[in-house]
Amino acid sequence: MSSHKPIVVVTGGAGFIGSHTVDALIEAGNRVVVLDDFRTGKRANLARWLAPEHRFDGAHAALEIVTCDVAHGIFAALEPITSRYGRVERIVHLAAQVSVVASIANPLVDMSVNYGGTLHVLEYARACNVSKVAFASSAAVYGDVTEMPVAETTPCRPVSPYGIDKYASELALDYYASVHNVPTTALRFFNVYGPRQDPTSPYSGVISIFADRARAGALLTIFGDGSQTRDFVYVGDVVRALLAAVADGNTRTVANVGTGREITVLELAQTIVALGGGASTIAHAPARGGEILKSRANVDRLRDRFGVVAQTPLVDGLRATLA
Ligand SMILES: NC(=O)c1ccc[n+]([C@@H]2O[C@H](COP(=O)([O-])OP(=O)(O)OC[C@H]3O[C@@H](n4cnc5c(N)ncnc54)[C@H](O)[C@@H]3O)[C@@H](O)[C@H]2O)c1
Repeated sequence: MSSHKPIVVVTGGAGFIGSHTVDALIEAGNRVVVLDDFRTGKRANLARWLAPEHRFDGAHAALEIVTCDVAHGIFAALEPITSRYGRVERIVHLAAQVSVVASIANPLVDMSVNYGGTLHVLEYARACNVSKVAFASSAAVYGDVTEMPVAETTPCRPVSPYGIDKYASELALDYYASVHNVPTTALRFFNVYGPRQDPTSPYSGVISIFADRARAGALLTIFGDGSQTRDFVYVGDVVRALLAAVADGNTRTVANVGTGREITVLELAQTIVALGGGASTIAHAPARGGEILKSRANVDRLRDRFGVVAQTPLVDGLRATLA
């Protein structure tokens, strides 16, 4: 019976990673409530579940979408649903202002959404006895680290408001877990890529921009000589980590989510040009100040605590993204 399916809230569920998470949660037999203010998310990302029979009162109770700014709290948005369909069992908290550059331009907005939003989610979880909160943190919490791979034991020295707010959110998760018995896990995503990542924002992931350009046979611009490296992890692997984290009985865990491998941005561009049919050319623009040179995750903890290993080869993930 659909009414016995657990209710999982996904904040930011209309976004890139969020919509893939929603798909997987529903496929695993959950009912999902998406809380999103649609500043970067799109209803079209949830197109599979928009038919009336997928509403909670429909035959295949799957998805309810509530427009809500997490910086203003989530109680009022959830009350009409929980009073009718039962309590929220778990929360995947992904809603965020996602641009490091925008966080530097407007740190107060970043703080109210990325830290304030997390506090609102945790207050809800405490008051409503939510069984687990899984949170999207970021490799940005580490700041400029030179030793690779980066393990979770590396001291966090974030160098942007975005990184500071993600780290502050992690501390809040740990506090709520230890003081208020709200089980929590924070996952530090490295560079996530895959279908539905928005290429139109200049702050978007480099793969979504390069893929968009390669599809159009247009020029790919690399900032600097392209020797900077990144650990690119496919969204499907990130979703597996999130599902393991939100289901997990353990608490107060922080884990990297990456592949443990790095690739230079130049090699990446060359691979995408080749996969896109080879019509594009690559150009170089001056390096951007403040960009980190190397990034690679130590992923032992993700494997040991959650049994998750990112397994999508880059070429396969790139093909799916280009398609
Ligand atoms: N994509 C990456 O490489 C990456 C890396 C590290 C961390 N993350 C984190 O993963 C999460 C998801 O990012 P994404 O890449 O899917 O970006 P995205 O922009 O596609 O998703 C963010 C979602 O949150 C929503 N949102 C933003 N502010 C909100 C608010 N105040 N209230 C309600 N909803 C709001 C947006 O509309 C969007 O649907 C974010 O927390 C981001 O910081 C992403």
